Amino acid sequence: MSHAWNKLQASAERLRGVHLRDLLQSEQRFEKLSFNAAHLLLDLSRQRIDEQVFAELLELANERQLDKAIKSLLRGEIVNPTENRPALHSALRMPAGTELIVDKANLVDGVQATLERMTDFVDKIHAGQWRGYSGRAISEVVNIGVGGSDLGPLMVCEALHEFKPQAADGVNIHFVSSMDGSQLSNLLLELNPETTLFVLSSKSFGTLDTLANAATAIDWLVERSGLNRELLIQQHFIGVTASPEKAIAWGIAEDSILKFWDWTGGRYSLWSGIGLPIALTIGMQGFRDLLAGAHAMDSHFAQASYEENLPILLALMGIWNINFQDIHAHAILPYDGRLAHLPAYLEQLEMESNGKSVKHDGELSDQRTCPILWGEIGPNAQHAFYQLLHQGTEPVMSDFIVPARRYEGRAAGLLEQHQLALANCLAQARVLALGDAALKDDSERPPWQRYAGNQPSSVILMETLNPASLGSLIALYEHKVYVQAVIWGINPFDQWGVELGKKVANDLIEALRQPVSGSYDQATDGLLAAIQQLQEEN
Ligand code: F6P
Repeated sequence: MSHAWNKLQASAERLRGVHLRDLLQSEQRFEKLSFNAAHLLLDLSRQRIDEQVFAELLELANERQLDKAIKSLLRGEIVNPTENRPALHSALRMPAGTELIVDKANLVDGVQATLERMTDFVDKIHAGQWRGYSGRAISEVVNIGVGGSDLGPLMVCEALHEFKPQAADGVNIHFVSSMDGSQLSNLLLELNPETTLFVLSSKSFGTLDTLANAATAIDWLVERSGLNRELLIQQHFIGVTASPEKAIAWGIAEDSILKFWDWTGGRYSLWSGIGLPIALTIGMQGFRDLLAGAHAMDSHFAQASYEENLPILLALMGIWNINFQDIHAHAILPYDGRLAHLPAYLEQLEMESNGKSVKHDGELSDQRTCPILWGEIGPNAQHAFYQLLHQGTEPVMSDFIVPARRYEGRAAGLLEQHQLALANCLAQARVLALGDAALKDDSERPPWQRYAGNQPSSVILMETLNPASLGSLIALYEHKVYVQAVIWGINPFDQWGVELGKKVANDLIEALRQPVSGSYDQATDGLLAAIQQLQEEN
């Protein structure tokens, strides 16, 4: 165990029994523990820390040589050793005219060239010049993808829908991910094949979920048009992938492919061609603003000292809570309905990245790593799971995310509704921290009306929610995940854990066609037999 780690353990002991209501009494706590950068204010004053813990956490970052690790990431060194590659999502948001030389090539040139190609696609679709088989302009775009090829674009499109430029009027974006065809089957009942374009988004172009949806989509086009399959694929499919040869083999025309690179992880890919639905929704300028917001956070991450570096501080609070406060549940609570998909996006980002127990050296970690993340739009969650946060037995850390300004120039009622959301956000963070002490009248009450409080939280306040501030927010979490991985000594950029399930599923597809009893474990054999019986009865 390292020096700083031991100190933090001693501090955890020292602070045992000290309640957040006591810590919140310390002078100028908010001033000392709130930080501004890249369109965001991060308030850590409701974390169970004091000045000594803050200093010890910075010491830990120092001990783990975080500065070196950050440079390795941003310079394109191999930070994903199990797949022998860098993780260069930050290069995707570097502005034109800048330079990042990796293997003797300036990556920024390739990135900018792809953005130009994306612009062509977007312009053509917005101008009604991308036409389907009957000559009618495309008006419906269906993104088919899963995981990082779905959650990022879906989350951003939903969050920034009101930034839709006039040019995008008349183009509707839909998302299809689930392998069982639930979303697609509903859409195919509504859409007109003549005016529908499918975007096949898959880094590997080998994900069964996506290929199954794509196969159903092309069958639908063939059936409804009576036309040739190859021709329909060429007119009605765009491919976004890091494996263009597979997309071409599937039938997609080479000039309908947006390529990206294997150094872009799936859950870090919304900044690449995978962001095409975003650019179709908010226009290329909006997409570039999103990139610029993320780049502002990248620059801050690269340059700011540890004690005012937002991603580092957010990460260190997590380390303190998980490893020294024994908190293993993390709630993501946006107080803005536009961020409805943020919890699902962060679930993949954090849990697929840091849900690991083997360290770089192959040894099992003796520390706890990524907690269980979940979340919901805050005001709705108040009527669902906040009961557990307030009076349950589980310690939970929460992130509250809220814009200060919204609905400018809109109806007074909407402005009032935003104030209501803000008041509730502040109230919940306060009650979770203080418990009963948040009440002005603390008279006698029965035990079931008492609140223990002491649940830590961070508040991320955005001036407004717009492409730049959202870009910065997402990059904040990406870098937070990296910092935690460095401290835990794990690789956040691979996902071997999901591979085994895929292999076993392939095997079971055969077994469903032709079950042979005694092939698997008792539970699987039993269910295979039950399914077969139910299917035969029909
Ligand atoms: O199975 C997990 C995963 O590989 C994710 O990491 C990824 O975002 C998702 O599947 C989709 O992968 P692809 O973009 O290659 O279809």
